[in-house]
Amino acid sequence: MSELKRFTRKEILNRNTKQDAVFIIENEVYDVTPFLDDHPGGHEVLLNVAGKDASEDFDDVGHSSDAKHMMKKYKIGELVDEDKIEFKRRQYSWEEYNKENSSGSFVSSWKFPVVLGLLMTVLYTYLFGYQ
Ligand code: HEM
Repeated sequence: MSELKRFTRKEILNRNTKQDAVFIIENEVYDVTPFLDDHPGGHEVLLNVAGKDASEDFDDVGHSSDAKHMMKKYKIGELVDEDKIEFKRRQYSWEEYNKENSSGSFVSSWKFPVVLGLLMTVLYTYLFGYQ
């Protein structure tokens, strides 16, 4: 595997033209010059973020996994360590989901409607059941 080229954010700042369009997504550097006319979202949006960090804009669109696969083709390197920022990605697992939701109150858990249903049944039977 070849060594990745390292860039500083400053180096990329001026690479914001149709002839040289480069941006950063999650600490990785992409040269999308050949992709400008092919981007389904249009070339304007790409030029708007060229020279900058496009992580948030890219994420906001909710690009498909196809798009994420496609972008590998345009990767030219990554940022130097000093210019990197940390990305906290929430990877949900069932364990985490259960942990987060088990702290909810009794009223918001599934048990509440079940217990309420049973009580109503007993009450209904008591009031109207034996006539
Ligand atoms: C190398 C980087 C990129 C690749 C390979 C890429 C690829 C794609 C692809 C394949 C689509 C079609 C929809 C999909 O499959 O998700 C798309 C749509 C779009 N992209 Fe990108 N994109 C890139 C970067 C960006 C950036 C940085 C922005 C924002 C600044 C952006 C904004 C959009 C928008 C607005 C759409 C249209 C969404 C819609 O019509 O629903 N893209 N892109």
